[in-house]
Amino acid sequence: MTTSTKLMLWLMMAVSVVMALVGVVLLQLRSSALEQDALNLVRAHARTLQIAIEERHSTDADKELKPLLERLVRENQAVANIILYDAHGAVLTAAPVGLDQAQQDTQAARQAMATRTEKQINRRIANQDVISLILPETDSGSPFGAIEISVAVAFVNTELVSERNDIVFLGLITCFTIFAVVWLVTRRSLGRHIHELVTGAKAVGQGDLSYRVATPSASGDFKVLADAFNQMAGSLAEQRQIAAQEAEARLDLERRLHHSERLAERLAAVSHLAAGVAHEMGAPLQVIDGRAKQLQEQTHPTTDKLQRNLKIIRTQGERITRIVRQLLTLARPVHPRLRPVDLRHQVELALEALETQAMQARVAYDHSAGQLPGALWVKADPDLLQQVLTNLFINALQAMPAGGTLRVSYSDAPLHKNGRAFIGLHVADTGDGIAAENLGQIFDPFFTTKEVGSGTGLGLSISSRIVEEHEGWLKADNWQNGNGESGAVFTLYLPQAQASAVKQKETAYELMAAD
Ligand SMILES: Nc1ncnc2c1ncn2[C@@H]1O[C@H](COP(=O)(O)OP(=O)(O)O)[C@@H](O)[C@H]1O
Ligand SMILES: [Mg+2]
Repeated sequence: MTTSTKLMLWLMMAVSVVMALVGVVLLQLRSSALEQDALNLVRAHARTLQIAIEERHSTDADKELKPLLERLVRENQAVANIILYDAHGAVLTAAPVGLDQAQQDTQAARQAMATRTEKQINRRIANQDVISLILPETDSGSPFGAIEISVAVAFVNTELVSERNDIVFLGLITCFTIFAVVWLVTRRSLGRHIHELVTGAKAVGQGDLSYRVATPSASGDFKVLADAFNQMAGSLAEQRQIAAQEAEARLDLERRLHHSERLAERLAAVSHLAAGVAHEMGAPLQVIDGRAKQLQEQTHPTTDKLQRNLKIIRTQGERITRIVRQLLTLARPVHPRLRPVDLRHQVELALEALETQAMQARVAYDHSAGQLPGALWVKADPDLLQQVLTNLFINALQAMPAGGTLRVSYSDAPLHKNGRAFIGLHVADTGDGIAAENLGQIFDPFFTTKEVGSGTGLGLSISSRIVEEHEGWLKADNWQNGNGESGAVFTLYLPQAQASAVKQKETAYELMAAD
């Protein structure tokens, strides 16, 4: 409900109450005035009658006066009854026809006669409420004592009802006029300003801080309100501008900080890589240099010596080539060609390829089926996946020089992350495990704990890069069980292949098999 409607309602209520009170008071006043009018009328009739009666000296009132009284009652609406009393207060005659003279209460008439004063009483005559006026006879020689003339209360009330209707009608017209005027005035002076302010508030609420409401020319509450509103919108706009500038400055600072951080990180990575390359390449290059020098110094080396040195030079050359190839893999962007691949099958292939090495190292395979039944479809590039699995298995074999068990298992259920499902693969060995201080570095390029020549420290960094390109991740940990067994465990997470893609692939297999 709007303020102006509420105002109107309150005003309507107040005006209605005042009008009702005025009406009641007016009716009250009119009621006694009407009663007085009626009494004055009957009094006038009574006086006339009194004069007429005083001239009569016969007591045969029934015969002489009754017709006169009856005519008076008949012809005057205001006159309800006329009763004539004798000198002793007994009823002589009464009008209209049928009014029983014998049964009238004569006590009031006697009192009026005794005090010789006019008396007014309210009483019931012939089952009708009346207001009676009793006039005692002034002439003491007259055979008549008093005359009672009455007016019906109903007669006065009928007049009153018609007056009340007039008052109600007038009241309604006055109310309506007041409301109409007030409504027009509030609409013009209140409604317009309120509407203006509401529109302004909406505009500012929707972010238009440049909106200003029209200020009324005349001073008043609305002018104060409109000025305050415009001031508020102005300072909001100012604050927003300041906040935006601050945010921009903060963003700029963050950008610069981030940029220098990235630069420092990259520099650190490059120097780390350079140190690694220098270290890895330094050893074979030194060997090559040494052997070449020997050959140079010996003017006539034996074929045997020549062959041995050349073989060493070639081996070291091959080592350098291997390192360079791996470095290239690390530097080159990996573009995996992803498709649904059965992870269990890929594991079997990689294990098979390393079977001879495992046998030589006296390492037994434990490739448990796990709880996930059937083929385990992941989204992967099979060649790159083979590279990762081979790296992990070779590391495990190298960690168990005195033999042990290479255990490959799968997570019991897919892992859900960011609305996607991932299949987990665990590669555990029974070697010495990874030293706690090395856990954070084993994925760094050139980090190795192996002797010079047996490890480049590039295997895990390449593997983790490949896995990240598959949108999966690789993590390292140590494990141990109650039987005193322990070792390192690597967990590889790869995205599960979509059921629809797998279906397509299975259909293709079936078609191939049918051919
Ligand atoms: N199965 C494992 N058990 C213990 N340590 C391991 C295992 N796999 C990797 N590591 C540690 O991580 C290091 C880095 O491994 P990797 O990147 O493959 O390089 P590299 O095998 O040439 O040393 C290893 O030198 C070793 O210290
Ligand atoms: Mg390795």
